[in-house]
Order: sequence, then C-alpha cells, then structure tokens
Amino acid sequence: MEKLIIGDCINEMSKIKDQSVDMIFADPPYNLQLSKSLLRPDQTNVKGVNHSWDKFNSFEAYDEFTKKWLYQCKRILKDDGTIWVIGSYHNIYRVGAIIQNLGFWILNDIIWNKTNPMPNFKGNRFTNAHETIIWASKSKKSKYNFNYKAMKVNNDDKQMRSDWSFPICSGNERIKKLGKTLHPTQKPEFLLNRIIISSTKKNSIILDPFLGTGTTGVVAKRLGRKFIGIEKNKEYMRYAKHRIKETKILNEKELVITKNLKTEVKVPFGNLLDNGMLKIGSKLHDINKKHKAIIRADGSLLTNNKIEGSIHTVGAILQGHNACNGWQYWYYEKNGKLESINKLREEIRNNKNYKK
Ligand SMILES: C[S@@+](CC[C@H](N)C(=O)[O-])C[C@H]1O[C@@H](n2cnc3c(N)ncnc32)[C@H](O)[C@@H]1O
Repeated sequence: MEKLIIGDCINEMSKIKDQSVDMIFADPPYNLQLSKSLLRPDQTNVKGVNHSWDKFNSFEAYDEFTKKWLYQCKRILKDDGTIWVIGSYHNIYRVGAIIQNLGFWILNDIIWNKTNPMPNFKGNRFTNAHETIIWASKSKKSKYNFNYKAMKVNNDDKQMRSDWSFPICSGNERIKKLGKTLHPTQKPEFLLNRIIISSTKKNSIILDPFLGTGTTGVVAKRLGRKFIGIEKNKEYMRYAKHRIKETKILNEKELVITKNLKTEVKVPFGNLLDNGMLKIGSKLHDINKKHKAIIRADGSLLTNNKIEGSIHTVGAILQGHNACNGWQYWYYEKNGKLESINKLREEIRNNKNYKK
C-alpha cells in the first residue's frame, strides 16, 4: 500500500491521525545557503543544491519550519515509533537540538561516509565526505524496534557500527531528465534499505515527508512495508510515482529477516523436564556420540567421568572451551536417531499450552 501526496508536508501531515505511523525517514531541505555558483577547475558549473525549496531567509526561519514539521512527526508517530533525519553540517545541529527540545530521544547519530564524495574544488576546506543521520525514538520510554541480529548478520556477524560507508547515488539509479540529473540530493537505495531493515517490520507504516525522487517509497515497497510519501514539487512527484509503480515487492522468502534472540521467550532447560519432553535419568549425547551425560533431577548433567553442571557448562568443559551453547551441543535419542534439544525448546516457544 502506497499513498503519495503532492503538497506541503506540514499541512498534509496535520491531516494524518495521531499515533498512526511506525517510522519516519526525513531528508529535509539542508538550507545550504549557497550564494554564488561554484566552478570546477575546468570552469564547468558544479551542480549544487541552489533550488528554491532549499532557501530560507534566516536561521530563525529555518528553525521555525523545522519545529513545525518535526512537531507533526512527533504527533503522528506511534509511541514506540522512531524517526530518522538526515542532514549535513549546515542543518543537522539545528535539527538535532529541535529533535531533543520536542522530547524525542536520540538513539544514534549515524555517519554516512561517502566513498565517492564531491571534491572540495576550491581547496579551501576539507572534502565534505559525510552526512549525519539522527535516529531517535518518540520518547525515552519508547520500546522501539531494532533488528539487531539482522544488522549483525549483514555485517559478517559483527555488531553493526554507527559509521556506514556507501557511495552517493550514481549510474543507472540516478534519475535523469533530458540527460541531466533530475534531483540534486537523490539518496542511494541501499542507505534506505539499511534504515528500513534495521528499524521496521513487514507491514510497518513508513512516512517520508520530503519524498523527492521517491527513494524511500521504492525501498519501502520492495521490502513489503506500507508507505506514505509527501512532496511539494509536482515534477519530482511524477518521477517518484513512476519509480515506485515500477518497483516489485520481494517474495515472502526473500523478506524474512533474522530474528533477534532477545525477543524470543527464555526457556530454561528444566522446562523440558517439567513438560515431560525429557526424562530424569535419560541420556544426552553430542552430535558425534563421543560424549554422553545423564540428566539429573534438578536439570543438571553428569558425565561418566564426573563432569557436572548445566548443559552449557558441561558442553564447554567437554570441548575445552570457555563457553558453549548447550542448546546447540546436546542431542537426545528418539527412535534410534539423534534429535537436537533445541527443537524441544522451539516447541515450547511455539506452543501456548506448555508450562513456561
Ligand atoms: C533533500 S530533498 C529529498 C530527496 C529524497 N530523499 C530523494 O532521495 O530523492 C528534499 C525534498 O523536499 C521537498 N520539500 C521541501 N520543502 C517541502 C515541504 N514543505 N513539503 C513537502 N516537500 C518539501 C523538496 O522539493 C525536495 O524534493
């Protein structure tokens, strides 16, 4: 489901119900305050952001605008919802202060490190090679969604950090009109992909109040999320609509994301005994049947050579490791075959009638 609205975002958001949106991605005007055109060393013009939508008369005017749209965002976000706002040094500090003043709770400031930034043609400053993305929950109390495990898997099983390296949008992805770039700040799809996968679920409602060329809508649709996009420029909206319409939704299998272990119900090993799934005195084996242990009345294990403790401790000692996930190490025998005790834990997790 996509709802694409042409209009001023403050006005259009004021028509949206309180607490009805799960996540907001906002890429507002940066207020770059570029006065003159910028030339490359070969005297060609640099295509910067000098459009009327990015111009404000003063910092005060920019702040007033920012307060109004962020106020609407806060109102329409669900209590456990989050907002992402991207900006550069020109605006992000002002935006960040207003985010905090409105009672949002900042969770991270992500650095998008551009692997192919525009050079500093004048050679009078450092190359401006990053943008900052503030991620905030509606309040300090929000139980916001963070797909920690999916992010970790995405990062070769290491915790995802707050510095992300991606190129700026270019090549076929960059929308052109008569051979020229349509929009000066079109964001790359993989940036939105990471943002949406990390903080939303399938069918979450995502809103982008500054839709531009529709990048957020394209990725939200592809990932099976519901989407509302607002853009005041009719031409940008025309391109955005076309782009979103052409986007295919991934299939069910492709959409599955790795679950957080934290969100799974904790099941102590003793519950397998309480539920009659394993018997006191029965044996557990490792997958190669090299080691075996009997289950004692308190849910601890004891091996032939007197190693005793929890499924985790005994598994670790037998392997000479500091730690072991006993759920993955131990098996029991059923009809002459080895079955993982982890399967029994899954049964408990999936069955409301078991004692937990
Ligand atoms: C930084 S660009 C967003 C680019 C977008 N993320 C993309 O990937 O194409 C900001 C957009 O906000 C739009 N805009 C500015 N002020 C607006 C307002 N008050 N209401 C709705 N859209 C607005 C501009 O026309 C511009 O397209």
